[in-house]
Amino acid sequence: MKNDIAYTLVSEEEIDATVTRIAAEIDRDYPDRSKGLLLLCILKGSVVFMGDLMKKIKVPVEIDCMKVSSYGCGTESTGQIHISLDLIRPDINKCDLLIIEDIIDSGVTLSHLTKYLKLKGAKSVKTCTFLDKPTRRKVDFTPDYCGAEIPDEFVIGYGLDYAEKYRALPFVGVLKPEVYTK
Ligand code: PRP
Repeated sequence: MKNDIAYTLVSEEEIDATVTRIAAEIDRDYPDRSKGLLLLCILKGSVVFMGDLMKKIKVPVEIDCMKVSSYGCGTESTGQIHISLDLIRPDINKCDLLIIEDIIDSGVTLSHLTKYLKLKGAKSVKTCTFLDKPTRRKVDFTPDYCGAEIPDEFVIGYGLDYAEKYRALPFVGVLKPEVYTK
């Protein structure tokens, strides 16, 4: 598996510093500790980032999960999303939601999901991504919190996969092209 990786893009030490920085930004922006914040993990890639982040946030948090994918047509997104696991909460109108993502690419998923959760009645909706590939945008979208902007490379590790492999790697690496062009 190590031979599949061209180089490390974000090391374990850099990940730790980045998560610490984002947690401090979240604590700064949600100062009222009497009100809970709902961290919404978008499965599957975000589970590792979510687990690290929730341990470092000092504001009281609840957690929940959704599974969302963008409808594809070959390699092109149609700009629609498919929700296979929804957020069901009778108290959504009292929820300050913070959507946690591992990576933003076209922006389609978070753009639609943010609108969807606002329409569902969430009190507030913000977004947090560990990685962002701004050069890949198909829709205008800017996250509220971002770990790092990265170039358009095939990245794996820290929750990110290729064919469901590599998610458990503790760092973010760039996959060798021969691995995914075989
Ligand atoms: C990734 C990522 C986002 C989405 C971003 O999920 O976790 O949900 O793609 O892409 P977009 O900005 O182009 O919409 P993926 O579909 O790979 O699912 P996974 O997390 O289960 O691997």
